[in-house]
Amino acid sequence: MKPGLDFAHEFVPGSSKRTLLLLHGTGGNEHDLVPLGREIDPTAAILSPRGKVLENGMPRFFRRLAEGIFDEEDLKRRTHELADFVGAAAKHYELAPDQIVVIGYSNGANIAASLLLLRPETLRAAILFRAMVPLVPEKLPDLSSARVWIGAGNRDPIIPTSETQRLVELLRGAGADVTIRFFDADHNLTNNEIEIARDWLMNWQ
Ligand code: MLT
Repeated sequence: MKPGLDFAHEFVPGSSKRTLLLLHGTGGNEHDLVPLGREIDPTAAILSPRGKVLENGMPRFFRRLAEGIFDEEDLKRRTHELADFVGAAAKHYELAPDQIVVIGYSNGANIAASLLLLRPETLRAAILFRAMVPLVPEKLPDLSSARVWIGAGNRDPIIPTSETQRLVELLRGAGADVTIRFFDADHNLTNNEIEIARDWLMNWQ
């Protein structure tokens, strides 16, 4: 393994300057979201790490004490570790560090939100499917140049819509340009929202 590239990951080169950082949900792996990434932007490079924490054998990006209750110290440490990995991968694969868009699902969306809050320089934009507030930082970062799209499910049994709304308020409070969409869906993604997220990404460059 190359120095700094300390996450198992999949890398797919692209034909544009953009890189999609794909962060899977609990029990996923580095391959899961690659088709989703390709659907959202077929020209972008793809960097897709596997979470290092195992919960009953299921990979995650940070520890939790129970569903929706996070081990905040672990989350902070893992957020910095992931940001350092993204920086090392950008050097190694010669990616434009200011063109990285994260697409996170569930646990991956939560650590993506944590990256925005703790290491905002890592990301240019974020698409967060089924996200909640990962932590509230002591000092809010300046997210005035960050764009965020959030897709929530009205019938999500894991993430209440009020939690997603709290995340929207936190990110907007830090200056981010946040678009929130609620779908008639549960925790699973729907094709409709994937298309809407793709249109959002394609229409602001
Ligand atoms: C989390 O642990 O990040 C959330 O509860 C979502 C999940 O992965 O189930």
